[in-house]
Amino acid sequence: MANQHCIRILTLLNCFLAIVRGQYTQGHGVAYDSKALESIFEARNLELGFPTPQERERVLSAGLYNPDGVVPIDVDVYYTHGDKTPSIFVTIPRFAKGVPYSLAYVTNEVRANGTELRAYPNYDWHQSHGADCNGLTSVYRTLIDECGRMWILDSGEIDFVQHCPPQLYAIDLASGNMVHHYRMPMGLYKPGVSRFVTPTIELDAHNCDVGHVYMADSIGAGIVVYDVAAQKSWRIENKYTSPHPDFGTFTIAGESFELWDGTVALTLTPHGLAGRMERMLYFHSLSGDWQMAIPLQVVNNASLWTGSMWKPNDVTIALDQFVVLGKRGSQCVGTAMSETGMLLCGLVQPPSIMAWNIRQPYKHENLALVIHDEKRLQFPSGMKIVRNHEGKEEMWVLSNRLQKAFGSGLNYQEVNFRIQKCGVHELLSGLPCH
Ligand SMILES: *[C@@H]1O[C@H](CO)[C@@H](O)[C@H](O)[C@H]1NC(C)=O
Ligand SMILES: *[C@@H]1O[C@H](CO)[C@@H](O)[C@H](O)[C@H]1NC(C)=O
Repeated sequence: MANQHCIRILTLLNCFLAIVRGQYTQGHGVAYDSKALESIFEARNLELGFPTPQERERVLSAGLYNPDGVVPIDVDVYYTHGDKTPSIFVTIPRFAKGVPYSLAYVTNEVRANGTELRAYPNYDWHQSHGADCNGLTSVYRTLIDECGRMWILDSGEIDFVQHCPPQLYAIDLASGNMVHHYRMPMGLYKPGVSRFVTPTIELDAHNCDVGHVYMADSIGAGIVVYDVAAQKSWRIENKYTSPHPDFGTFTIAGESFELWDGTVALTLTPHGLAGRMERMLYFHSLSGDWQMAIPLQVVNNASLWTGSMWKPNDVTIALDQFVVLGKRGSQCVGTAMSETGMLLCGLVQPPSIMAWNIRQPYKHENLALVIHDEKRLQFPSGMKIVRNHEGKEEMWVLSNRLQKAFGSGLNYQEVNFRIQKCGVHELLSGLPCH
């Protein structure tokens, strides 16, 4: 038995590999690494399009565009009604000053370093570089809801300088109109420290304007909950939203770098899963390996987090409601939940995609590496599950070799940035992705 063998003598990571090898060589008669995701976008560097060639020259000479400093983090995908070719969006956070725009869509123009991107919703939204807060300053991740709206979480900082408060925008993808806008009040973020990186949304089944948005503050190590209808938010911060020293160093393909990030990703358990489970918010820290959960009812209870009992920096509120589901022994970045209750997660080491059925205990024997790809999955920072034109769920993942971008530097002779996908059913049942 591979599992017992694992638990006895191997490290957790080798254990994962042993399980997957065992599954695929014994169960399916193919080597585990023969399975690959379907490649949708590959780039040696991001090819950014501009309104005019003169504008490109202007930002280059003004120091607002450094072609060696644009790194994508997230992918989002939208199938317009019945159309089998989706719109694909990419975020490019302003880690440093030379990022001309922070949210883009993929065009059909193929250029030398990769397919050309263009600014979304348009170039003007990005042009002030923090001078005007009516626009986008820096975007790490987005999420498209069931009502066809893209929620954009803007961290408001460039190169660790807080130019604007963190903001949340919702744009109706069909019309391109902004349909919601919220500025986070002081007290819910830490200027120059907070880094809001990931939004997750829970909407009322019958009303697109009622629900909650959960926002992960990775460096500030907290979660801000926003009540969309009431336009009120509150902050959750405690030991479970924080990083852990054992997981502050990231090593990929022999290269290491440091990240000290708390909560990075949030997912929700599906509605009415077999009718037995109360809905939960799952979350985890980037520099950590604990998989956490908390009942949605507790997270959404404004009086708990803002009521008369509340004190600033109180790290004890509802602490007994937080559940440590388990520890995976490795860092996980992007994550997404399928409608059937499979939690997918992009592991850093080994570069892979892990799947867990949320009905089972979060234990090694129930964590399966469904894709392992040392070359094409280096730092899987963005992951989404979307429904395609036929109503089928697809997993999309963006990887960006962050260990090189933050370490020795990217080698632009190689493909550095990839967007790949697989049908969720195919991914989980060992079938080819394409
Ligand atoms: C491709 O990217 C490299 C690295 O940033 C850059 O030096 C080069 O000019 C780019 N090539 C084109 C044709 O834009
Ligand atoms: C919200 O929290 C308050 C304070 O602890 C509690 O009295 C109330 O029952 C909670 N409401 C819900 C819906 O859980």
